[in-house]
Amino acid sequence: MRVATGCDVVDVARLAAVADRRAGFVDRVFTRAEVADCTRGGVALGSPTGRARLAARFAAKEAARKALGDLRLPFHAVEVRRDEVGAPRLHLRGRASDWSCSLSHDGGVALAVVVGLIDDPSDRVHDPT
Ligand SMILES: CC(C)(COP(=O)(O)OP(=O)(O)OC[C@H]1O[C@@H](n2cnc3c(N)ncnc32)[C@H](O)[C@@H]1OP(=O)(O)O)[C@@H](O)C(=O)NCCC(=O)NCCS
Repeated sequence: MRVATGCDVVDVARLAAVADRRAGFVDRVFTRAEVADCTRGGVALGSPTGRARLAARFAAKEAARKALGDLRLPFHAVEVRRDEVGAPRLHLRGRASDWSCSLSHDGGVALAVVVGLIDDPSDRVHDPT
């Protein structure tokens, strides 16, 4: 096993423009639970806060792709949920995971870092020469 890390930054306005331009983009990329989290507290999805929350979750999906080494992982295969204190929890391929995720958004930029343990076959290759 080895520690795998992925990070990603997203320009909030850029992602919002794509979401505005492409019908169905939000549903294709984000799960219902993620949309519900982004609109919690009566926040509109198209508002600055809603857009920043969406962008942070988009960054988490890209960060998870990097960490897992699967750059074609479907968007819905990575889901960010919130725990009881509001911290992000990652569900991978439909199941709760013990992978770690942290989100931040400020100044028009959203960021995510994802860390987890990954099975690495190269670990098993031992060549002392
Ligand atoms: C949670 C906290 C660290 C977020 O920091 P922030 O600078 O306000 O906001 P950031 O953009 O960096 O981070 C926001 C993300 O933090 C994550 N987050 C929220 N609570 C968290 C927690 N307890 N642990 C880890 N991550 C948390 C969420 O993913 C959130 O993203 P979301 O709103 O899209 O769901 C901060 O609000 C805090 O310290 N809260 C506790 C004290 C408090 O309530 N202070 C009120 C202000 S005086």
